[in-house]
Amino acid sequence: MIDYKRKSAELFASTVSHIDVEDIYSLVEVPPDSKMGDFAVPCFKFAKMLRKSPAVIAQEIASEIEENEFFEKTVHQGPYVNFFVNKKHFANVVLKEVYDQKESFGSSDEGHGRNVVVEFSSPNIAKPFHIGHIRTTVIGNALYKIYRFMGFNAIAINHLGDYGTQFGMLISAYKRWGVKEKIESNPIPELLELYIRFNAEAEENADLKEEARYWFKELEGGNAEAKALWEWFKEVSLIEFNRVYDMLNIHFDSFAGESFYSDKMARVIDELEDKKLLVSSQGAQIVDLTPYNMPSPLIKKSDGSTLYITRDIAASIYRKETYDFFKNIYVVGSQQNLHFQQWIKIVELMGYEWAKDCVHVPFGMVALEEGTLSTRKGRVVFLEDVLKKAVEKTLEVINERNPSLEDKEKVAKQVGIGAVLFQELYNNRIKDYVFSWDKTLSFEGETGPYVQYTYARTCSILNKYTKEVNVDIDFELLTDEKEFEILKTLATFNAVILSALEKNEPFYITRFIVDLAQKYNRFYNGCQVLTEDEETTKSRILLTYAVNTTIKIALGLLGMEAPDKM
Ligand code: ARG
Repeated sequence: MIDYKRKSAELFASTVSHIDVEDIYSLVEVPPDSKMGDFAVPCFKFAKMLRKSPAVIAQEIASEIEENEFFEKTVHQGPYVNFFVNKKHFANVVLKEVYDQKESFGSSDEGHGRNVVVEFSSPNIAKPFHIGHIRTTVIGNALYKIYRFMGFNAIAINHLGDYGTQFGMLISAYKRWGVKEKIESNPIPELLELYIRFNAEAEENADLKEEARYWFKELEGGNAEAKALWEWFKEVSLIEFNRVYDMLNIHFDSFAGESFYSDKMARVIDELEDKKLLVSSQGAQIVDLTPYNMPSPLIKKSDGSTLYITRDIAASIYRKETYDFFKNIYVVGSQQNLHFQQWIKIVELMGYEWAKDCVHVPFGMVALEEGTLSTRKGRVVFLEDVLKKAVEKTLEVINERNPSLEDKEKVAKQVGIGAVLFQELYNNRIKDYVFSWDKTLSFEGETGPYVQYTYARTCSILNKYTKEVNVDIDFELLTDEKEFEILKTLATFNAVILSALEKNEPFYITRFIVDLAQKYNRFYNGCQVLTEDEETTKSRILLTYAVNTTIKIALGLLGMEAPDKM
């Protein structure tokens, strides 16, 4: 896309000698009111050098800029040179680009195929996949898609929590009280109950703790019974997790979880030893991080077993060796900030320069509105139940608003799940937020259903137009303020995706979609698209096509679907 901001800097530079285009470019502003132009260059900085007042400089430069195709006029106002984009030219450039690039509009080859590991979701086996996991799952999936769209080879990894002493407890609890059939019919709640019972009884009876340790050691040592049970727990849990991933249409390239690294741990310990990083502390091994103002983490217990953090160190080394990543991203809640600071520091101390490429992408907590979900006190809220409820509630709304809609169930799924995703991705990720059903499912305001509805509206208009969309139009017909506003927004799409990528913040895209939808609706409410006049219709159809294409791409980057009708 032509960069009009750069054009304004170049034209400015063409009138003065000895001032570098880059210096001017860095000064270009977007005036607060578009009546003052689309771009402005302040002249204060040049006063000393040119020995004139900024206002005089602005006046002289504005009058010297030659007529050109990019700007319809260039005027001075006080110390500013203001550039007014040639709307006809602009409409032509933007719409042709969308039309030519279609589903790749907004993308670029920022990544040059480099590998980016995006680790997200990573629930714990035999534990509920609950509402607290929604953020990592949804933010991570969006980042994965954003990286791919920008030319990176993104690799989605689910670092399953499938190892650790809790599996010793679970094996022991199952052997004491477990009933196979019960677990088969209702795996996670049953396993959770066993786990809770075990912990409660272990409070009273220290033998249980010993027994759990024993079984975990057996598991680590490859005992067949322990291994079979553990594999079974994993299998039944994954069936549940996969149901949620299917609903969200999420795919992972690898499910290498914590256990995957169990045979890669000795090497890490040896290496830490060789590098003189391990310190004995009461029979256990730690890395001293006090010089870096962090608590020193336990790396190896006195009984020889390793920990969560040891597995993360091993995993990062494995990922570097396997994927030679450009970036290794972890979408994990901010409660684990310290954990990530600690192990990334350790990897750095081990001498791995790529420690700087390991990026923790934290996020705040999601709280539930009082009384929102019909759960008994203290019960966990399963993510699957939230998604199902969103779909059910959406179906109710559809039955009220549009009972004759085709494929109602399918649309209810697209809209209901989309609504949850959209709300999830609406805010800066670090902010805690409160999940609200009313806000999520509303067709009004800045919501998923609102933007999907706008998309469906563009589909219906395009469907009614019986001819081919084409770019052979009179662009002069798209120079009204409402149209220009839409075009300006479309033109920022690539930059918006780039910011989302640079900051690992999908919400830039969410906000962009809302902005575009609102601007389109303003246009739609003021102008009929399908009119008596052929040329007018053609031009408005092309504009509608561009909005339609862009919303669909942007929703896709967030992991959302775009229903044609709703
Ligand atoms: N399984 C962990 C949990 O549910 C999250 C894992 C995060 N990833 C990591 N590499 N430590 O809390």
